[in-house]
Amino acid sequence: MNETAPVMVNGFDGSRAAALPARAAELIARREAALGGACRLFYQQPVEFVRGEGVYLYDPDGNAYLDAYNNVPSVGHSHPRVTEAVTRQLATLNTHTRYLTDGVVSYAERLLATHTIGPAHAMFTCTGSEAGDLALRIARQHTGGTGVIVTENAYHGVTAAIAEVSPSLGASVPLGAHVKAVPAPSGGVDFTAAVASAIADLRRHGVRLAAFLADSLFSSDGVLPDPAGFLAPVAALVRSAGGLYIADEVQSGFGRTGSQMWGYQRHGLAPDIVTMGKPMGNGLPIAGIVGRREVLEGFGQTARYFNTFGGNPVCVAAASAVLDVLESEGLRANSLETGTYLRDAITRLAAGSPVLAAVRGAGLYVGADVVSPDTGLPSAELASAIVNGMRERRVLISATGPRGHVLKIRPPLPFGRGHADLFLDVLSDVLGELGTPDLSLPRGRVLLSSKRLSGIES
Ligand SMILES: Cc1ncc(COP(=O)(O)O)c(C=O)c1O
Repeated sequence: MNETAPVMVNGFDGSRAAALPARAAELIARREAALGGACRLFYQQPVEFVRGEGVYLYDPDGNAYLDAYNNVPSVGHSHPRVTEAVTRQLATLNTHTRYLTDGVVSYAERLLATHTIGPAHAMFTCTGSEAGDLALRIARQHTGGTGVIVTENAYHGVTAAIAEVSPSLGASVPLGAHVKAVPAPSGGVDFTAAVASAIADLRRHGVRLAAFLADSLFSSDGVLPDPAGFLAPVAALVRSAGGLYIADEVQSGFGRTGSQMWGYQRHGLAPDIVTMGKPMGNGLPIAGIVGRREVLEGFGQTARYFNTFGGNPVCVAAASAVLDVLESEGLRANSLETGTYLRDAITRLAAGSPVLAAVRGAGLYVGADVVSPDTGLPSAELASAIVNGMRERRVLISATGPRGHVLKIRPPLPFGRGHADLFLDVLSDVLGELGTPDLSLPRGRVLLSSKRLSGIES
């Protein structure tokens, strides 16, 4: 039987805190007392960072960790150009969008020019969740419908409205009454047919479609980018049913997929609304939407939208610097080139490993299935062993997917070939340790070496 989804993929189990080094155990205890339990940590042995630079993070002892996970500091940790732009703006002016400032207008113009959805407007928020929330409000007003279609393990954020369209939050977080979850586009699923059937089902229940909402890379569904183009017929179908196509580009945007600036562009479609976030300000809280002018105009005529911190001058300075760096350092091209190199090399590793199966990806976003060598079924346990084994060797990745068995490899975009080679050496080492099934154990169990279990960082 397949394993079910853990509460949080790659989450720290608090009962292990006592076994950690004293500094970590003490900080975790204080954190738990101050922040409570909902705010979870990564890894069996959580890691503390005090500094970041480029594609590296540093612990208090000065050890460098190769970051193959974080997509928010997309142009690199503590990029000097972003730091300089933010510092200068903070020392000059920081207000909000109810005053005239040139920065937010210039940035919106520049951002709109990167999209291919026709005449459009931009609106700014602080988080991807707020962007999704706003997109849903607009879609419901524009269409007069309430129905929303998402994928079975989608994640779109944390507000009450967005949690209702985020099935990956688990069974304890109910889906909205008018929300239909369709199987993710993998494993032979006819995705267009699945969406058609969801539309028909909503209709039979008297629910008019407002929107189809999808992450253009289906990250939480297990990283499902292929084949490019498969979403175009879905967009046509959704529109013919009177709904809007909302592309969630929080993960897939800003050059992550390498071939294009936006994930939807890989599919040759023009969404009605696009939501953006995470990498937009390289860590500063700026997110937002762009939407077809015709769609946003109706909303603007009847509702006002003010988000206190959304699009403030300091965050806009960060976002403008991000676009500058993306262009001047050729990071989208690097994402394509290094991402292809990395994916091909992991595919070769998978061919020689009993625990790595399918490898997928677009640009510097790679997902690799981890399976039991005995049954071939998804194994969250082995994925966790790989993720933690790499962390012990100071390389950061995580896992994702409905069964938590997909390695999630998504480094900052300056990740070069040398970093990829380092990454591959460590992955190969960790796979080597996991690769020998111990025949004295029940079939399918794999022994983890004592080295892995005792790898406390100094
Ligand atoms: C695809 C996707 N959409 C939306 C969000 C929500 O963004 P935020 O955490 O900024 O609210 C996330 C965050 O992980 C995401 O991965």
